[in-house]
Amino acid sequence: MKFFVDTADLKEIEELAATGLLDGVTTNPSIIAKSGQEFIPLIKEICDIVDGPVSAEVAATDFDTMMKEAEILRKIADHVAIKVPLTPDGLRVCKALTDEGTMVNVTLCFSAAQALLAAKAGASFISPFVGRLDDISSDGLALIQDICLIYENYNFDTEVLVASVRSPMHIIEAAKMGAHVMTSPPSVIKQLYKHPLTDSGLAAFVEDWKNSGQSIL
Ligand code: G3P
Repeated sequence: MKFFVDTADLKEIEELAATGLLDGVTTNPSIIAKSGQEFIPLIKEICDIVDGPVSAEVAATDFDTMMKEAEILRKIADHVAIKVPLTPDGLRVCKALTDEGTMVNVTLCFSAAQALLAAKAGASFISPFVGRLDDISSDGLALIQDICLIYENYNFDTEVLVASVRSPMHIIEAAKMGAHVMTSPPSVIKQLYKHPLTDSGLAAFVEDWKNSGQSIL
């Protein structure tokens, strides 16, 4: 499973990139607005830190303007994935861009029907929002299961990018289903390392080693 981080915080991105486990970055208009930074230079800076796909989302909602925005965004770097909303116009943009070899991440997916359309439009990534479905008492992970099954049935190349991740269990359950990618806030990625038995076991090893009086170096 590839790990993307859903943030525009450069310090967090640098820290995660240094682990060697980070495969890409996703942003959205809300994340950019929250960062208080200028969009295009910020995406450029992220692209300089991370080699994998960096999602940058169009702001318009009509075909012509989305295409113009995408033209600017894809010039930032070859590994920018243009993020478009799952609408008829968004999927038209997706088809036009992927036909030209540009990566496209189709976002705001909340149903298997929408995911099927995105795959037919040639999306590189489909982003189903598990957390937001859970928030309205729907089953976000059941949607991941359905999309993985449908994509497998037809050998679609579109990668399932599990988005709106709220907890490590979203990641583990999606990984069990074979989802290709997940994107989460940095805090959730950091939680993946944690287990109380690791902490207590390490504390015991450190103490026992100290008492042995030995040194490796
Ligand atoms: O970037 C898309 C998605 O990951 C947003 O998540 O937490 O705003 O529902 P969230």
